[in-house]
Amino acid sequence: MSLLELNDVKVHFPIKKGLIFDRTVGHVYAVDGISLKVEAGQTYGLVGESGCGKTTLGRAVLRLVDITSGEVVLDGTDLASLPDKEMRTMRRRLQMVFQDPLGSLNPRQNIESILSEGMAAHGIGADQAERREKIRAILAKVGLPSNALSRYPHEFSGGQRQRIGIARALVLEPDVIICDEPVSALDVSIQAQVVNLLDELQEELGLTYVVIAHDLAVVRHISDVIGVMYLGSLVEEAPSDSLYAEPKHPYTKALMSAVPIPDPTVEEARERILLTGDLPSPANPPSGCRFHTRCPWAQPKCKEDRPQLREVGEGHRVACHFVEDIDSGLLQIGANHAAVVPAARTEEAGIEAAAAKAAEAEAAAPKAAVSEGAATDAEAEAATDAEAGQAPEAESAEEAVETEAAETEAVEAEAAETEAAETEAVETEAAATETDEIKPSEAEAAETDSTEPAKDSTAQGA
Ligand SMILES: Nc1ncnc2c1ncn2[C@@H]1O[C@H](COP(=O)(O)OP(=O)(O)OP(=O)(O)O)[C@@H](O)[C@H]1O
Ligand code: SF4
Ligand SMILES: [Mg+2]
Repeated sequence: MSLLELNDVKVHFPIKKGLIFDRTVGHVYAVDGISLKVEAGQTYGLVGESGCGKTTLGRAVLRLVDITSGEVVLDGTDLASLPDKEMRTMRRRLQMVFQDPLGSLNPRQNIESILSEGMAAHGIGADQAERREKIRAILAKVGLPSNALSRYPHEFSGGQRQRIGIARALVLEPDVIICDEPVSALDVSIQAQVVNLLDELQEELGLTYVVIAHDLAVVRHISDVIGVMYLGSLVEEAPSDSLYAEPKHPYTKALMSAVPIPDPTVEEARERILLTGDLPSPANPPSGCRFHTRCPWAQPKCKEDRPQLREVGEGHRVACHFVEDIDSGLLQIGANHAAVVPAARTEEAGIEAAAAKAAEAEAAAPKAAVSEGAATDAEAEAATDAEAGQAPEAESAEEAVETEAAETEAVEAEAAETEAAETEAVETEAAATETDEIKPSEAEAAETDSTEPAKDSTAQGA
C-alpha cells in the first residue's frame, strides 16, 4: 500500500451570483478527478501551467479546501471522510510549505512563536524550553542561526523565509510534506540551495514529498515520479527519467519542447511545439479530451470521449486516445493547432516573449472568471491579511537599517496587494494561507476543546 493515495479527487468551487440570495450559477472545476499514488520516501513532482489546479490539489490533500468527491488515503486512512477533530490530529503527519514564503508567516509573531505554535497544539515537547531546544536543532538543520528565534519574518531574506517555512513543517515531524512552488519566488542561485536542502532532509529524515512547480527544471532533479496536470486533470505520469527522455502526451511534448537543452549541438536542433488557442477556463472546460482545443494531433473522437489515464509502459500512464499512433508517426501533427519551429528561431523572432505573455494572460483569465464566486471568501481573507500586515512595519520602524527598510517596503507592498485583492476578490496564496490560519469554525472548535490543537492555525500547524 502506498503512503499517500488519491482516488478520483475532485474540487469544484461554486460560482455564486446575487447580492441578497446567493445562487450557484456554475462551478470552477479546479481539480477534476485526480488519482495518484505516492510511495514512502519518494518525491512526487506535480507540474502544469498556472491555474491548472496544482495548489488546489495540494490544499485538498490537507483538507484546507472542501473536497467535492474522492478519497485522500494517508497510510490507510481516508482523510476526505474523517471528522474534523480527527483530521486535526492527522494533519501533523501531513504538512505544507506554501507558495508565498512571506505571506504564509504571520508578521506579528517571532520565529519561535511561529514554530512552537503547532508543536504546542500537537503536544510536542513537555514545555516551551523543550520546544525551544528542538526548534534550535531544526533551525540548524535548515541552515538558520539560532538567534533567528527572536526575530520576525520581515527581517529575513526570501530564501531564509522559505527555510523557515520548511522548519515549521519539520518541527511537527511529518511523514509527508507538500512543497508548493518551494523555489519559484527565489533567485536562481538560492533556488539550488533550497532544492539541495530538501534533498538532504529527505535522505536524513526519510521524508516523503509532493513538490508542486510550474518549472520542469525544478522538479526534474528532485522527483522520482512526475505527474503533468492540465486543466484539473493528470494527463501523464511517469518516472522522472522516462518522462524527460520520452514524453508521450501531446501537452507534455509541447512543455518539454520549451526547455532549453544544455548540449549546444542538440540545442541547435531543438524544435518547439508552439501551442495556439487560449487555455480554456476551468469554469467551462472543453468536452471530451480537455486538451483537444489546443492539441496538434486532435481527432474527431477527442471532442467526444474523455480519455482516461492508462498504462503505456512501466509506470508510465498517459491520458490520450492516440498515444501509440502519435508515437509511431501514423498520426501527423495537424496544421490547425500548433507550429513546430526551430527553438533558436522562436527566440530570435521574439516569439518566446510573445508566448510567455500569452501564457500570462491565459493564467489570469481563469482566475478572473471565478472572481464573482470567490468574492465573499476572498474579501474575508484579504481583510485579515491586511490587518496582520500592519504590525511589523511599526515594530521595525525604529531600528530600520537600509536592508530592513527594504524589507518593510516589501511588507507594505504585500499589504497593498491584499487591499487590491479585497476589491478584485481574487485569492492570493498569501490570503489563502492566512484564511486557513483563522478558519472560524476550526478556531472556535479549538477554543472550546482544550485537549485539541489550540488553533488549526498555522495552516500547517495544526
Ligand atoms: N477558493 C477558490 N474559489 C474559487 N476558485 C478558486 C479558488 N482557489 C482557486 N480557484 C481557481 O481554481 C483554479 C486553480 O487554481 P490553483 O491556485 O490551484 O492553480 P495553480 O495550478 O496552483 O496555479 P499557479 O501555478 O498560478 O499557482 C484557478 O482557476 C483558480 O482561480
Ligand atoms: S486524446 Fe486527442 S486531443 Fe487529447 S491529447 Fe490525445 S490526440 Fe490530443
Ligand atoms: Mg499554485
